[in-house]
Amino acid sequence: MKLVVTESYEKSSRLLADMFEEVIAGKKNAVLGLATGSSPEGMYECLVEDYRAGKVDFSQIHTINLDEYCGLSRSHTQSFGYFMDRRLFSKVNIKEENIMLIDGTASAEEQAERYDTFLREHPIDILVLGIGTNGHIGFNEPEAVFHANTHQVELAKETIQANSRFFDKAQDVPASAITMGMAGIAGARKVVLIASGEAKADAIKRLFADDLVDPMLPCSILKVCRDATVVIDRTLYERMKA
Ligand code: F6R
Repeated sequence: MKLVVTESYEKSSRLLADMFEEVIAGKKNAVLGLATGSSPEGMYECLVEDYRAGKVDFSQIHTINLDEYCGLSRSHTQSFGYFMDRRLFSKVNIKEENIMLIDGTASAEEQAERYDTFLREHPIDILVLGIGTNGHIGFNEPEAVFHANTHQVELAKETIQANSRFFDKAQDVPASAITMGMAGIAGARKVVLIASGEAKADAIKRLFADDLVDPMLPCSILKVCRDATVVIDRTLYERMKA
């Protein structure tokens, strides 16, 4: 697991976009694993900018997102599907049939089966992750064991609190979600985690504190991924060292 420290969130975002574009340049039909939330927003902006400049082509690209809230459809403005449509899918030439999203309104078992079948047949070439303040990745919350496959999860209190900024009030945040499990994440050929902001300092500090892989710190699975990079900016780095 490598640590890269950049000068700013913008520089981190550019670095991630370049990593994605390098994979796409080498494989036109690459499978991209995608996260939502604030962390990858800058990367999506860079990818859209480069698409408009003719530097990257999504016509044969496949994508698979990490997670979705239970109960929210793709047209719900707080759903992760809606986020992806707004930030990336509607702005580039990706084909609708090549987009894998969890349907938060369908049965969790059915969605899990569909996701895990796809992942077995299409290993992810590059996956972007954000990180929760409690160290979650996707919506794999701290628990006594890692869940290998896609599954339904009850969201941790701190996750509901952190994500309430996207909703009118904390009570509107769905209490559960469906998430890709650790097998899907660790099966990716390349994983890049981006973190920025003081709130993430503690989780990143814990991640680099030792060599242990601990389900109570879900991001620690990155230590056994074949090619994992953590990208943080200098402000976060200084904070983590303090
Ligand atoms: C979202 C996801 C989550 C977020 C994490 C950080 O698809 O998988 O793990 O990456 O909650 O969220 P932000 O980036 O909003 O701080």
